[in-house]
Amino acid sequence: IIFNNGKYKSILAAEQGELERIKSEVEKDRDFRPYYHLAPSTGLLNDPNGLVFDGEKFHLFYQWFPFDAIHGMKHWKHFTTEDFHIYTEADPLIPCELFESHGCYSGGALPVGDKIAAFYTGNTRRAADNQRVPFQNLAIFDRTGKLLSKRPLIENAPKGYTEHVRDPKPYFTKEGKIRFICGAQREDLTGTAIIFEMDNLDDEPRLLGELSLPAFDNQKVFMWECPDLLKVGDNDIFIWSPQGKRREARRFQNNFHAVYAVGKLDDRTFNAAHIAELDQGFDFYAPQTFAGLENQKHAVMFGWCGMPDLTYPTDKYKWHSMLTLPREITLQGNRLVQRPIKEIYQNLTALSQISLQQQAEIQDLDRAYIKFDAENTAFNIRFFANEQGQTLSLSYDGELVCLDRSQTEETEWMKKFASQRYCEIKNLRQVEIFFDRSIIEIFLNDGEKALTSRFFIANRQNSVKTDRTLRLNVGYPKEIEYK
Ligand code: FRU
Repeated sequence: IIFNNGKYKSILAAEQGELERIKSEVEKDRDFRPYYHLAPSTGLLNDPNGLVFDGEKFHLFYQWFPFDAIHGMKHWKHFTTEDFHIYTEADPLIPCELFESHGCYSGGALPVGDKIAAFYTGNTRRAADNQRVPFQNLAIFDRTGKLLSKRPLIENAPKGYTEHVRDPKPYFTKEGKIRFICGAQREDLTGTAIIFEMDNLDDEPRLLGELSLPAFDNQKVFMWECPDLLKVGDNDIFIWSPQGKRREARRFQNNFHAVYAVGKLDDRTFNAAHIAELDQGFDFYAPQTFAGLENQKHAVMFGWCGMPDLTYPTDKYKWHSMLTLPREITLQGNRLVQRPIKEIYQNLTALSQISLQQQAEIQDLDRAYIKFDAENTAFNIRFFANEQGQTLSLSYDGELVCLDRSQTEETEWMKKFASQRYCEIKNLRQVEIFFDRSIIEIFLNDGEKALTSRFFIANRQNSVKTDRTLRLNVGYPKEIEYK
C-alpha cells in the first residue's frame, strides 16, 4: 500500500520516462555536478544511512527523494564498494508498506551473521488528521545487497516523547546483545536520545531509557537527530545532530549542528571529556560512521554536505546536495581528527607543485586537491573568478581562518545566516583543500579542524589570486565509477 500523492510518491509510481525527463534537467547543469563526491542522479540526497562493513566490502545508503530537489518521500539509495572509487548499485529501501507509508527515514546497520540488519524509521501520517506516527523498522539484506525482508519493530513514540523519535543506530553490547539509539524529543520539547535493546533480530525491542550526557549544554535544544555511538581504540565517541543549540560568533555558526563527544560510555551514561562541533563550514550535518570496523584505531564517517530546510541554486536543475568524502576519524587525546580516507590520497593523479605568486590559472582547479604549508603566517587567497566578479576567498590572520562566500552566488540561506565561517586555530601549519565543482572540503593541520561548504560560481575561470607566495601541491582525485 503506497500513498503516492504529491510529494509522497515512491519510485514504484514513476510514470514511464519520468525519471529520464528529470535526468535531462539534471544534465543541463554544466557548473555544479561533482566528479568524485556521491550525488543523486536526480532529486534530493540527505543523510548517509546504514553504513556497514560486512568483512569484505562497504555498504552505503543515503536518504533520497528521486523526483525533485525537495524533502519528499524518502528512499534509501544503496551502493556497495570495496575501494570508495567504484560503487555498485544494490537493492534500495523503497517505501511500500503501511509502516513506512510516508518515507523510509534515517537509520544505521549492523553485520549480523551473514546478513546486514538495517534499522530505520518508518515515517507515517495518520489519514484522519495527518498526525505523524513514527515506526522503527528492521530490514534484512544479504551481503550481496539483496533485500530479504522488512518488519516493523516499534509503532509510535514511547510514552513521554513526541512524534519526533527517529534515526535508530544499532550497536552490539559486550554481551552480544543488539542495542539501538534513537534521536528523540521529550514531551517538554527538549532533545535527547533513547536506547532500545534486543537479544537478537527476532526479539522485540525493550526501551532501556535515555542516554545521559551531563556535560552537554542542552539549553534551547529541541531535538537530537542522527545519534551514533562508536569506539575508537579505548575511547567512546558519541556523534549527533542537536537542533536549536545557540549560535555563536566563531563556533556553532549554522542553524543546526553536528557535534561529537569523546569519553567513556558506562551503560547509558556518557561521561564526556570533550564536546565540540564536528565541522565548521556552512554545510555539514547528520554524519554517520561505519559499523563493522569496531575495535580499530580509526572509524570511517560520511557526512551530508547540506542542512535541513535550505535551498540551493541547483534546485532548478532538479538535484540537491551530496555526501562529503569518506573521512577517517582518529583521536588526538580527546580531540577528534578527520581526514579523507587513505584511498582518496592513493588515487590522486597528476601530482605537481606550483609556486603561486600573485595570480595563476590552475588547470581544473574546480576538481583539484591542493595542499600548502601555511607556516603560521597570514594569507588571503581568492579562488575562481567570473564575469560577474564572483570569487571564493579563504584567509588567515594568525588566529582565525575565514571562509568567505559573500562574493559567490547569493543563496536565501546566506541572507539569513551570513556569508563567513570562521575557525579559531593557533599555529596553522598546513591547509588541504578538496574542490569538486560546488563543494569545498578544507582540512587544517592534518585534520585538526574541518570546514565543509557548498559554493556556487557559474561560468568560472580556474584562477587563483594570493597576497603572498605559496607553494601549492596539486593533484586530482579519481572520478567515481558507478556500476
Ligand atoms: C536529518 C533528518 C533525520 C530524518 C531524515 C529524513 O537530516 O531530518 O532526522 O530521519 O533527515 O530524511
